[in-house]
Amino acid sequence: MTTETPAAVAERQGDRVIIFDTTLRDGEQSPGCSMNLEEKLKIARVLDEMGVDVIEAGFPIASNGDFEAVQEVAKTVRNAVVAGLARATARDIERAGEALKGAARPRIHTFISTSPLHMKYKLQMEPDAVLQAVIDSVTLARRFTDDVEWSPEDGSRTEPDFLCRTVEAAIKAGATTINIPDTVGYATPEDYAAIFRMVLERVPGADKVILSAHTHNDLGLAVANALAAVQAGARQVECTINGIGERAGNAAMEEIVMAMRTRPDKYPFHNRIVTQNIMKASRLLSSVTGFQVQPNKAIVGANAFAHESGIHQDGMLKHAGTYEIMTPESVGLTRSNLVMGKHSGRNAFRTKLRELGFDDIGDNAFQDAFQRFKDLADRKKEIFDEDIIALVDDSMARDSERIRFVSLGVMAGSIGAQTAQIVLEIDGETKWSQTSGSGPVDAIFNAISQLVPHEAKLQLYQVNAVTGGTDAQAEVTVRLEEAGKTVAGQGADYDTLVASARAYIHALNKLLTKREKSAPAALSA
Ligand code: KIV
Ligand code: ZN
Repeated sequence: MTTETPAAVAERQGDRVIIFDTTLRDGEQSPGCSMNLEEKLKIARVLDEMGVDVIEAGFPIASNGDFEAVQEVAKTVRNAVVAGLARATARDIERAGEALKGAARPRIHTFISTSPLHMKYKLQMEPDAVLQAVIDSVTLARRFTDDVEWSPEDGSRTEPDFLCRTVEAAIKAGATTINIPDTVGYATPEDYAAIFRMVLERVPGADKVILSAHTHNDLGLAVANALAAVQAGARQVECTINGIGERAGNAAMEEIVMAMRTRPDKYPFHNRIVTQNIMKASRLLSSVTGFQVQPNKAIVGANAFAHESGIHQDGMLKHAGTYEIMTPESVGLTRSNLVMGKHSGRNAFRTKLRELGFDDIGDNAFQDAFQRFKDLADRKKEIFDEDIIALVDDSMARDSERIRFVSLGVMAGSIGAQTAQIVLEIDGETKWSQTSGSGPVDAIFNAISQLVPHEAKLQLYQVNAVTGGTDAQAEVTVRLEEAGKTVAGQGADYDTLVASARAYIHALNKLLTKREKSAPAALSA
């Protein structure tokens, strides 16, 4: 009954590793990382373009938004397999099957908990009932597609005999990929590798399906565990861009892929990822979610290729290999000679954007970014790539917004009340408001809220300097929560208060999009 695929059973169980990206599902599930449909589609396109084999686009039963996202990603993506998650119930599986109808290559990923703790307390089911649910769910999923993945949730803490019985049952029922998650990030590389070896040794048919690793980073071992599983026979790894995901996150795709590229002596495996697209994907995700990666994060952190100490700089000048184990170019960073300043024209700006990985910027966003670049160049001595990235991210985020920033005036300081006067364009109409607050940022947010009334609570207000120096641009992230939905907005500007206003407006625009899904409503007061 098995039709070869899952990448022709990972090129007949050779050294090919399938990269399964779950940024849009496990990643999006983490607090503050929710994305709207347009954002998900943007990310899906980038993942597809960078050679991801499987994109897990969401959990269709979870909400109408998730259903729609899986449906649209399924229609949009043409190279990658598109997966939808489903629990072991007929409703979940049918909903996933429905959402995946338009996919060129659909996969249903169904799961049920198998560890003693989860079965007793979470499912309140006896092991035999769980085993039957495995058979029923996989059998039903196969009616919708030949490509069915099955996961024993909390697999790494499942009793070995029961794990083997359930895996065998899933394979017999037609699963083509068996994913064994370390759901709570408890396993060590040795434990996790041993599970894969055991399954290959004890379960009939395990060598005919793809075994998959799905790891969480609670002990900081997610990537190490995924690589250990591959060494033990897994031929699919489940991961996310920037390692976003539940709690401490999932295994970071860029780290797994670059470990394989950089240490083929230890990891003699190949995958289809175009590593030069890594930075682009990482930046896009950060700008969409507002989750900036920590500066010292492996591969994509701002300092990952920076050499500050004199000894290191001296070594680098003599031979890059002294302190660099991979080139910045290999992950999509450029060592550009194109220095930008106030005399740079449109062509140079466009070329610089291409170098920085922004090939798909729309006309409006380009015009806006170019104008703001010119303004910045008038005020700031040196323009760094980071400045341009912040500007363009900001302009792209604003491309199709209903509320637009026009201008801001603020009274701040220790003498008198702090007040803000804001002018916005709302659905094409110019409106203004003036009010005070406990500090200038509070005054700005109050003034905006007068024009766009809402019930959302501010969960996060964060300011980063894009570069060094007192003339650095500010990049502000704002996170708002309304009725259990979280949205993040970003703003960048050489004026921290303008950046704050832009970030708040960006978050409100996203909130409106979410609200409109349930009931289109008038916008302003
Ligand atoms: O961590 C986990 O167990 C999961 C499953 C749904 C695969 O995300
Ligand atoms: Zn997970």
